Amino acid sequence: MAVKQHLITTPVLPKNEIFDAISQAASEMGSSAYIIGGYVRDLALGTPCKDLDFVVAGSGIELADRAAKILGIKKVNFYKNFGTAAFRYKDYELEFVGARKESYERNSRKPLVEDGTLADDQNRRDFTINAMAISLNKGDFGQLTDPFNGMGDLQEGIIRTPLNPDITYSDDPLRMLRAIRFATRLNFTIHQESYDAISKNAERIKIISQERITDELNKIILCEIPSKGFKLLFNTGLLPLIFPELAALHGVEEKQGILHKDNFYHTLQVLDNIAEHTDKLFLRWAAILHDIAKPPTKKFDPNAGWTFHGHEYLGNKMVPGIFKRLRLPLDSNMRYVQKLVLLHLRPIALTNEQITDSALRRLLFDAGEDIDDLMTLCRADITSKNEAKVIRYLKRYEEVAGKLKEVEERDRMRNWQPPIDGAEIMRTFNLKPSREVGLIKDAIREAILEGDIPNEYEAAYSIMLKTAKKLGVTKAE
Ligand code: CTP
Repeated sequence: MAVKQHLITTPVLPKNEIFDAISQAASEMGSSAYIIGGYVRDLALGTPCKDLDFVVAGSGIELADRAAKILGIKKVNFYKNFGTAAFRYKDYELEFVGARKESYERNSRKPLVEDGTLADDQNRRDFTINAMAISLNKGDFGQLTDPFNGMGDLQEGIIRTPLNPDITYSDDPLRMLRAIRFATRLNFTIHQESYDAISKNAERIKIISQERITDELNKIILCEIPSKGFKLLFNTGLLPLIFPELAALHGVEEKQGILHKDNFYHTLQVLDNIAEHTDKLFLRWAAILHDIAKPPTKKFDPNAGWTFHGHEYLGNKMVPGIFKRLRLPLDSNMRYVQKLVLLHLRPIALTNEQITDSALRRLLFDAGEDIDDLMTLCRADITSKNEAKVIRYLKRYEEVAGKLKEVEERDRMRNWQPPIDGAEIMRTFNLKPSREVGLIKDAIREAILEGDIPNEYEAAYSIMLKTAKKLGVTKAE
């Protein structure tokens, strides 16, 4: 699928009380204020943007304070150490900075700040398309200041640093990831020099906090065609530094004339496929991680060829370590990704055999409420170059999906829990939590999943009594 092409227009500021208020505040201060950065870029792209960044030749804190009073805002956050301030107005986020002539100490993000002009401030921005400013001053209100031809780069679809890229990236190495993120989101090309400098400075990413890196990764993952970003990350050498497990999927090996597929490009294809069907971040993460354990489980068997036995189990076990290192949430989102990784081969296995109701019930039970997402992942996982094969597999999936629906409705299996739970077993037999309770619970569940008894309370009750008797457990008085 092709990414939408952008129609670029000269940015014209809309009528808005915010801009009027900043204009008035700057004039009271006797200084000049501008809106700069993402808002101006998005205005030219015709993309709505609620983050407004203002720069003033003077104190950002004073400008924020005065503007807030004019707009009737009481709560302003001041960041005195950085000389910045921010507040919310309606659904806008406003941020104010004093124009700075700034450089960063090597190996730290602590800026050495000096007051500067608008031009100084534009020099230290990340990309030409993010360095454009629009005047909010009485004399030339609405006029664009675009010293690096950001408009030209927007037209031509180029990401380029305003200064020598070595300087721009060493000011803040996160910008290497931002370059890739913008190129992916806008379907732009990174200018050759700016690109080469990423490869050269890749190691510097190590000084950036994991939270900022992961935030950029997530933004790349949420793009329309995320594979573009991951290919750029790989080709520039950033990927092995920030996500070695994914980089390890790259490459093919040959033995006795037998090749296995390149699991890196396969994974990226799965990610692009799933991106067409969902914006759920963690479902996209499941696509990225579904084959993550292929390298450590890879074996060559002269009879069977390449195998990756158990990669779904090992993958499920690798997820928490990866989430922890990437500072992704170690909560239900992580367990959801683990579950999808673990189960990603189950529906395909069903397409290869005579489908039994009990196998369908087991899958519904194991996947629970995530069954639809699992099926979305599995459909995305079909990446053969052979169009006819893809169509054949998709057709079989539709059959499995249809049968799952039938069983789900007939046996009331959606989010199913057995009709008798542990608490009831303990009450009935006056038991404490113990091995016996687990065994009785398992017997009830298995009998229903196998189809030996219907999914009903009475039938489950009699299995409970039978199993208890076998275990020598007697009913409470
Ligand atoms: N900026 C920069 N270097 C960074 C981060 C930001 O020069 N490492 C500048 C850019 O001029 C950018 C502006 O600060 O346009 C605002 O940054 P941010 O809000 O992070 O990004 P946006 O460009 O607004 O884009 P988005 O909101 O889509 O992330």
